[in-house]
Amino acid sequence: MSIVDHIRTERDISREELEAILATDDKDSIEELRSQAREVATSVYGNKIFMRGLIELSSHCKNDCLYCGLRRSNTNASRYRLTDDEIFQCCATGYRLGFRTFVMQGGEDGWFDDKRMCRIVSTIRQQYPDCAITLSLGERSRESYQALFDAGANRYLLRHETASPEHYARLHPSEMSWQNRIDCLWTLKEIGYQVGCGFMVGSPFQTIDTLYADLQFIRELQPQMVGIGPFVATANTPFEGYPNGKVSDTLRLLAIIRLLHPHVLLPATTALGTLHPRGRELGIQFGANVVMPNLSPIAHRKDYAIYDNKICTGEEAAECRACTEQRIKKIGFETVVDRGDYKA
Ligand code: 5AD
Ligand code: FES
Repeated sequence: MSIVDHIRTERDISREELEAILATDDKDSIEELRSQAREVATSVYGNKIFMRGLIELSSHCKNDCLYCGLRRSNTNASRYRLTDDEIFQCCATGYRLGFRTFVMQGGEDGWFDDKRMCRIVSTIRQQYPDCAITLSLGERSRESYQALFDAGANRYLLRHETASPEHYARLHPSEMSWQNRIDCLWTLKEIGYQVGCGFMVGSPFQTIDTLYADLQFIRELQPQMVGIGPFVATANTPFEGYPNGKVSDTLRLLAIIRLLHPHVLLPATTALGTLHPRGRELGIQFGANVVMPNLSPIAHRKDYAIYDNKICTGEEAAECRACTEQRIKKIGFETVVDRGDYKA
């Protein structure tokens, strides 16, 4: 039995198997991995790829993650915040374009406190009862997560970044706590959110062991979504001189995650599209089933600069949506804009 067959039937992977898959340059094994991962995705979700509308609320952040262009120490970053009206406009445009999931993402910005954020969420909830509301606003208190859930949010994305506390400490300043981040994910789950965790591929100091720990953590948490993308070295951050993560490693890990978790919602990320002109298409071919076109107002797009050379910063919402749809159609898949809930 091949390694790929073994992972697929056991829904488990050993450290050695992970190492072998990441190390191989045998084209046939990689093609086997790709085709089996795609087969598994198709067996659950057909050839449908879910589109989510992404709204980037704020480029202000109180944190200082060493990899991120929005870190507070980056005095070269342009900072903006969307007004309530701008956010509602994005939703209106998105709804008109057919989106039924809005993903509101932002740096950890105290301006979007519970009162403001709950007001925004409940307004969207009332206006679009048929839509899913996804939040990606970083670490908050249990009370905050609960209040946002009660206001109508359904899903929460919070990448765990790495399942190794030692690795976490090398990617973040000492005031940030790995334990708190992990606790946040469990809290979100307890409250009843559909949760997404995830990590960067090829982040500085990542090893086979930290990646293996990531896969074990995903198995433990059983999230509905997993977001992974390559690390992109970014100017004006401490990691600007480090090498980018590899597209090929990212694709292999997407496929592995699909084989281990057949039902998981797995985006082909913008970071993947940034490091390879067909990165998102390749992601889908390796088992991803979600894409997130940008609905943010064009005036602020370039300023949500988590990493360098980010794609989709010059296109209007309608253009980005059409572009995504075309790209996906070209490789034989169908985009759908319904809520696209996790299939248990
Ligand atoms: N390259 C790739 N991904 C990054 N992120 C932050 N900075 C970078 C970077 N330089 C990812 C993190 C974060 C998500 C919003 O973006 O994993 O959780
Ligand atoms: Fe956004 Fe192509 S997908 S512009």
